[in-house]
Parts: sequence; structure tokens; C-alpha cells
Amino acid sequence: MTSSEKSIHAGVMGWPVAHSRSPLLHGFWLKQYRIDGDYAALAVTPEDFPQTFAELPGRGFAGVNITVPHKQAAFDAIIAAGGVVSETARRLGAVNTVIFHEDSSVEGDNTDAFGFMENLKEKAPQWNPDGTVTVLGAGGAVRAVCAGLLEAGVTEIRLVNRSEEKAHELARMFGPSVIPVSWDERETSLADISLLVNGTSLGMSGSPPLELSLDPLPKTAVVYDIVYAPLETPLLRTAKICGNPTVDGLGMLIHQARPAFEAWFGMLPEVTPELREILEADIREGETT
Ligand code: ATR
Repeated sequence: MTSSEKSIHAGVMGWPVAHSRSPLLHGFWLKQYRIDGDYAALAVTPEDFPQTFAELPGRGFAGVNITVPHKQAAFDAIIAAGGVVSETARRLGAVNTVIFHEDSSVEGDNTDAFGFMENLKEKAPQWNPDGTVTVLGAGGAVRAVCAGLLEAGVTEIRLVNRSEEKAHELARMFGPSVIPVSWDERETSLADISLLVNGTSLGMSGSPPLELSLDPLPKTAVVYDIVYAPLETPLLRTAKICGNPTVDGLGMLIHQARPAFEAWFGMLPEVTPELREILEADIREGETT
């Protein structure tokens, strides 16, 4: 931020970015805490990313969130600029939060694992990490899920993915606690676990549903879907019918945003029922339009 400007600018870079709820989320907090700042959706193509990213400090940005498909490019750009990336970002090879400091230095972090775990702790405080979990998927989001779970002390992650090679890649990345399981074995993998996470796009609006019988799943196991549109995915609906505790993906989005807001605007924002209601209404509206 230049000293002549009082207002603090931040935003989210993605392609496409129109679907992002981050402007609504940060906009709510800016208003709630009466902070002189703004948060913009920045639609940037992969070709334009390096240049646009480099120009942001000069445009008065205190920082940005990075979403698909730029998380790796942001990591590379920060390293190329001689900036600092957090240990989590380095481990995941991806950055979702960037801070442009006043002394021109750049810092990259990845708060997705934090967001995933904070939401789990808030919504399923009874869950104990001292056990085995099954995670479906092996994309960027699942990398953050695995990092969060292992950091919390989970000893075994059964990683089920349609493309087995991607599951093996994550096992190589995270070590022997991550055990690749074939897609056909996804139901068998549910026996004796304490947590099931859907990290695939299955069940998301516009995607096919996740076909999975929960019969082998212990009734005490927490079922966590990181998909948040719709809020209640078919998986979560089935889990509720079975009597399992459930966690939806909206809280992960909210919690991953909190450290970023603090870094740019100077205060760690709260997650209030009002904020959740506003985001839920926006998601419901998106379902019907
Ligand atoms: P993100 O980076 O947001 O996590 P992604 O990298 O596109 O998104 O990952 C999507 C995940 O959903 C992947 O694990 C993908 O499985 P593949 O690695 O086999 O592609 C999974 N997925 C998407 N469609 C699927 C389907 N029809 N059946 C099973 N898995 C599916």
C-alpha cells in the first residue's frame, strides 16, 4: 500500500472467478468492523497471471487470495520474486494467500489446511484425530486436507481416488501414513474409520452424485463434505439419515479466509451466525439461478 492511500485493497485472483464467495465474505467483515478497505474479484487468465500479480503492490494491494487455477503459479511467482512462503505452502506447492508488505517484500501462505481443520473442530468437537480416516479425491483441495489431518495427528489416511496414480503421488508426497486405495474399494475402506471426507467434486451442483453406500461406516464416524454448493450434498443427506454427525464445506471456506483478513486488515474476524446465513442465502440463490 502506498502511504498516500488510506484505504486497503485486497481481492481474489482466479479464472474464472465470478463464482467466488470470497468478495461477499471479506466484504461482510469489512463492513462489520468498519474498516476502510475493499475486496475485489480479479478475473485473470493464466497467461496474464505473472504480470498482473507483479503489478498489484503498485496498485495499492495489501494482498490477495489465490484460487483455481493460479495457486501453483502464485507459489512460483513469489519464489521468483525472492519472497517467503510458509512451510505449509511449501509442502503443498500452492499458495492461497499473499501478503504484500510495505517494505516491498512478498509473503505466501496456504490457509486451506487450517480452514479445513478449524471447521472440523468447530462442527465436530467430539472427533478425535487419534484414528483412521478415509479421504475421497486427490486434487489440490485434498492435499490441504491431508496436510491438516496429518498435522492434527491422524495416523492413517486411506486415500481413495478414481485415478490411482494421483493417490500414489500424494502417498509419495506425505509418506507412509497415506495409503492409496482403489476407487472400487471405497466402500470397504469405510469400516472402522472415525472420519470420512469427500474431497472430490462429486455431489457438487452440475456434477454427478457420489455413489457410495454408507452401510460399512461406523455410526459415530463424522462425514465431512468439502463441497458447499449445495450445502447439503446427497452424501451429507444420506449420512444424516444414517445418524452420522456431518460437517459441510462452507465453514472451510470461511475459516481459510480468517488469517488472510487478519494479515491485510489487522484483525482476526469472527464467524457469526449472520455471516453464515448471508453465505447460505447466496449459495441457495446460486442453485436456483
Ligand atoms: P481441486 O484441485 O479443487 O481439488 P481437482 O484437482 O479437479 O480439484 O480434483 C477433483 C477430484 O474429484 C479428483 O480427485 C477427481 O478424480 P481424478 O483424479 O480421477 O480426476 C475427482 N473426480 C471428479 N470427477 C469424478 C468422477 N466422475 N468419479 C470419481 N472421481 C471424480
